[in-house]
Amino acid sequence: MSKVERVGVSLDKELLGQFDALIDKQGYTNRSEAIRDLIRERLSEEQLAKPTAKAVAGIFLVYDHHSTALTDKLMKLQHNHLLHIIASTHIHLDHHNCLEIIILKGKVKEIEDLANQMASLKGVKLSKTNMINVN
Ligand code: NI
Repeated sequence: MSKVERVGVSLDKELLGQFDALIDKQGYTNRSEAIRDLIRERLSEEQLAKPTAKAVAGIFLVYDHHSTALTDKLMKLQHNHLLHIIASTHIHLDHHNCLEIIILKGKVKEIEDLANQMASLKGVKLSKTNMINVN
């Protein structure tokens, strides 16, 4: 663990009150941990703005499995990006809809491109990509 340094921060009362209310709602028991997480989140965002940064991601897709050839196209895309895909899981939501979660790693731009290719396929109703950077 790296050496810990103490820092003092001046904040106006109203801002601090809003911050305390927020972290209390989120379940934090002390400000330091909440501030550390905020800093990590901001640094991670900064990294993810770089197309070549390494990341892991979950692509969430909701689609109608009756849609012509969609499942084949999704499968083909996944097989073509085998090196990037760590795992995928498929949940049958109801008679028509499936949820597929694809977990992958790679560069930010590669992940975004693959996610866009999947999201734009006919029959995909919803898609969401969550990414975190890794070193
Ligand atoms: Ni299904």
